[in-house]
Amino acid sequence: MPNAVIVGTQWGDEGKAKVIDYLTDKSDLIIRFQGGSNAGHTVIVDGRKFVFHLVPSGIISEGKICIVGNGVVVDAKQLLNEIDELEKGGIFVDNRLMLSDLAHLVLPYHKALDSATESNKGDGKKIGTTGRGIGPAYADKVSRNGIRAGDLLDWDLFCTKFKANFAAAKRHVELICNGQFDLDENLILDEYKSIRERLLPLVKDTCHYIFEANRAGKKLLFEGAQGTFLDVDHGTYPFVTSSNTVAGCACTGAGVGPLTIDHCVGIVKTYTTRVGNGPFPTELNDAAGELLQRVGKEFGSTTGRTRRCGWFDSVMVRKAIQLNGITRLALTKLDVLNELDEIKICTHYKIDGQLTDQYPSCTHKLERAVPVYETLTGWKCDISGCKEFSQLPKEALDYVKRLRELCYDTEALIVSVGPDRAQTMEVEPF
Ligand code: GDP
Ligand code: IMO
Ligand code: MG
Repeated sequence: MPNAVIVGTQWGDEGKAKVIDYLTDKSDLIIRFQGGSNAGHTVIVDGRKFVFHLVPSGIISEGKICIVGNGVVVDAKQLLNEIDELEKGGIFVDNRLMLSDLAHLVLPYHKALDSATESNKGDGKKIGTTGRGIGPAYADKVSRNGIRAGDLLDWDLFCTKFKANFAAAKRHVELICNGQFDLDENLILDEYKSIRERLLPLVKDTCHYIFEANRAGKKLLFEGAQGTFLDVDHGTYPFVTSSNTVAGCACTGAGVGPLTIDHCVGIVKTYTTRVGNGPFPTELNDAAGELLQRVGKEFGSTTGRTRRCGWFDSVMVRKAIQLNGITRLALTKLDVLNELDEIKICTHYKIDGQLTDQYPSCTHKLERAVPVYETLTGWKCDISGCKEFSQLPKEALDYVKRLRELCYDTEALIVSVGPDRAQTMEVEPF
C-alpha cells in the first residue's frame, strides 16, 4: 500500500477509525498527527468494540507500530488509561506505542480553562467543545508557554513551568471568566510524578523514527482526527476545533515532508452529522433526521452527546476534496439509509438568491446558505450483509454513483455497510 493520510471530510465522526483499522493490515506505522482526546474513534471487530481517544486505532492489530505525533496535544492520564484498558482486554502495547517528545501536554488546568471559557460565553456563542482542554492546550503551545512531553525528562523544570502556568490559569478562570478554580497544585504534581514514570519510556524522537521507517520501505498510515469543517483555518470558524485537521497537517504534525504521502483518503459519511454548535445547512429537524440519528446510532463517541443529522452535502465534500487533495473516497454508513423511501443530496446552495456549487469560505455566508436538493429513490432493503460492491441493489449503486459524480468523480476506495470490520467492501484499491 502507498503511504496514505486519512481525513474526515465533514464535521468528524465519519467513520475514520473503521477505515484506518481496515487499512492497518496493509500498513506498518499508524500515526496520529493532530487533535487530542477530543477524538473518539470506534473500531468493531467480530462484535468487540474499541473506542480510542489518543492511542492510534491501529494498535489492535498485532505487530503494528503506533505513534502519537508532535502535533497531538496529549492528556497523559487519558493515554495511560487507554493503554490499561487495552491490556485488560488482552491487547499488549509493549514497545509498539511511541509518543513524540515534542507533543504538548494537556494538563488539568487546561480542562478547567476549557469549561470556564465555555461557561462564560453568551448564548449563541458557545462552541460546544468536548471539554477535553484542547483549545487552551493549543493556545499555550502557540503562545510559547506550553509544556511538552519531553519536558518531563527534567522534573524540576517541569514543576517550574507547571507552577507558572497553573497560577496563570487560576487567574484567568477566576478573574476573567468569573469561574471557580478548585484544582490542587500539589495533588496534580504528585499524580504527575507517577504518570511521568510510566510515560517516559514511550517518549521518543518520533520524527526521526518515522523518517528511518519510511526510508526502510515501511508503509505509513496517518490517522486524522475531527473533520475538514472543524479545521481552525478552513472550518466553520469560530465553531471549530483548535488544530488544522486537513491533510497538510500530517506533515507538520508528524514531522515528514509533503512528498512522503502518496494518497489522501477522504472519509465521507453518506449523510451528514455534527456534534456541538455552528452552522449546518442540510440539518434535518424532522422524522428523516430522527431516523438517521436512531438508525445511525449518532451519539458522540467522546461526550455521548446526540449528533445533529442531515442530508449529504456535496458542496461541503467538494470543498474538502479541494482542501485535502483527496485521491480516494471511503463512503461509510450506507446501511443507515436502508429504510428511507427517498434520499436527498444537496448539490448547490442558494445564498442571498444566488445559486452556487461552491462552498463559501465565510461562516456568515454559510449561515445564509439554503440547500438545493435532488431526490433519489431509496432501496428499502437491508444491505448490511453485502460482501461485494456489485451485490448492492441498483438504487444503492445509483446513490454511490451520484455521490462520486458530485465529488469530482473521485474513485471510491471503500464502501462501508456496517460498523464491523467485516462489513467493508473494497471498490477501487490504490
Ligand atoms: P470517527 O471519529 O470518524 O472514527 O467515527 P466514530 O467512531 O466517532 O463514529 C462512527 C460510528 O459509526 C461508530 O460508532 C462506528 O462503529 C460506526 N460506523 C462506522 N462505519 C459504519 C457503517 O458503515 N455503518 C454503520 N451502521 N455504522 C458504522
Ligand atoms: P473525531 O476524531 C466530532 C467538535 C466539538 C466542538 C468543536 C470544538 O471523533 O471525528 P474541541 O473540544 O475540539 O475544542 O471542540 O469540535 N469536535 C468533534 N466533533 N468528532 C470529533 O472528533 C470532534 N472533536 C472535536 O464537538 O463542536
Ligand atoms: Mg469520532
